[in-house]
Amino acid sequence: IVDIKGGPDEGLNRLDETLVVRGWVRTFRAQSSIIFIEVNDGSCLSNLQCVMSSDAEGYDQIESGLISTGASLLVQGVLVKSQGSKQKVELKVEKLILVGTSDPSFPIQKKRVSREFLRTKAHLRPRTNTFGAVARVRNALAYATHKFFQENGFVWVSSPIITASDCEGAGEQFCVTTLIPSSRETTDSPVAAIPRTEDGSVDWSQDFFGKPAFLTVSGQLNGETYATALSDVYTFGPTFRAENSNTSRHLAEFWMIEPELAFADLDDDMACATAYLQYVVQYILENCKEDMDFFNTWIEKGIISRLSDVVEKSFVQLTYTDAIDLLLKAKKKFEFPVKWGCDLQSEHERYITEVAFGGCPVIIRDYPKEIKAFYMRENDDEKTVAAMDMLVPRVGELIGGSQREERLEHLEKRLDGLKLNKESYWWYLDLRRYGSVPHAGFGLGFERLVQFATGIDNIRDAIPFPRAPGSAEF
Ligand code: 4AD
Ligand code: MG
Repeated sequence: IVDIKGGPDEGLNRLDETLVVRGWVRTFRAQSSIIFIEVNDGSCLSNLQCVMSSDAEGYDQIESGLISTGASLLVQGVLVKSQGSKQKVELKVEKLILVGTSDPSFPIQKKRVSREFLRTKAHLRPRTNTFGAVARVRNALAYATHKFFQENGFVWVSSPIITASDCEGAGEQFCVTTLIPSSRETTDSPVAAIPRTEDGSVDWSQDFFGKPAFLTVSGQLNGETYATALSDVYTFGPTFRAENSNTSRHLAEFWMIEPELAFADLDDDMACATAYLQYVVQYILENCKEDMDFFNTWIEKGIISRLSDVVEKSFVQLTYTDAIDLLLKAKKKFEFPVKWGCDLQSEHERYITEVAFGGCPVIIRDYPKEIKAFYMRENDDEKTVAAMDMLVPRVGELIGGSQREERLEHLEKRLDGLKLNKESYWWYLDLRRYGSVPHAGFGLGFERLVQFATGIDNIRDAIPFPRAPGSAEF
């Protein structure tokens, strides 16, 4: 007796075997005394059709009406070729055990429901085809991510979630503050009013960390410390941004993959980003065929051929200055005016990838230093920095990266210029004092990758439990 896992075709190798399947009822119908139960255990998109006649053990549970959509079951039977045209194999049931009944109020019945509705049912939506498939492809992308970096000699480093530094300097951090337990008035709530000194300022001496601490916006600075010791490293973990943007591309909590390459420049960085993206896309095309076919039919028509192009074709590269020229020459009227020095808005990014370069990933490099973070290496023109963004169709910015400023004096000058407190970056500056090396890295938003790979248009459907302004349920 074995479990069946691994997709619809797997069954053909198992004909005449006795199997035990554990899963949830997707649909249930009776045809005179024959009962058809579609069971799904989450291992693949296809349901297993279980055909049960009245002589099977457990038939009384059908008669008493206990089995309905959403119920959990254990079914034992023999796998046979299916008479029906929809599936190749089906299970001829010998024995059925009802594990958990499902109340008739179960909200995910056979009719299609909107993804907006399913967001209000995040605890049950993985039981739909779409969210089951997204979860499996997300898992495959995470696996392929580790596989790619491990095979290329990168060491995975865990960057902290709580930190005192603001990597991006954009002031988008969530503050973490709690009183040290001994100074709490009540023991039942970790959150208490922040103590103030007599002049009204915050009394950090009573705070758990003794100073302002935040949820990290990026693990990069910590990644750099390990890259300047272990050479190539990467982080892969949750990051947080208190951006008040209600868009289909922003989350307050998202996962980021951040490789950091030692003895490397911007060209090495772009080559790594390209090889990485091609590797993970190829991985899911080869290993998630059934789910990808589903996305190709139901979510974004043609996504498989577009992703195959990503694997095979080389990506476009151009400088920020050339990108601005291209936008200035565009016939399209943009809502946000374009001029050298402006940050690219999503309408500009979409124009570049979808119109100007016909759906190909595009890497833009050498951005004006005014619109980029303090750690990026200044180019010889003193106006731009060695930064790169990779833009992809529909999603826009998938990757942001740069060569880091490894020269101590340049970095100190830049911190001063931005009026950032040099003292608080003392350990980061130390990396430039002791054996500094040219190094570069990038950050890839994992949910944007999931969007790109599945065609799911809202980022809130690319993560199991989305966090966005005003929503932290589940
Ligand atoms: O461009 P960003 O802000 O770059 C950094 O954080 C660098 N420290 C990365 C590095 O060089 N190690 O963010 C990197 C990527 C973006 O390109 C985007 O894909 C994603 O993170 N991202 C978000 N994804 C979802 N929701 C948000 N609010 C995001 N903000 C950034
Ligand atoms: Mg960015």
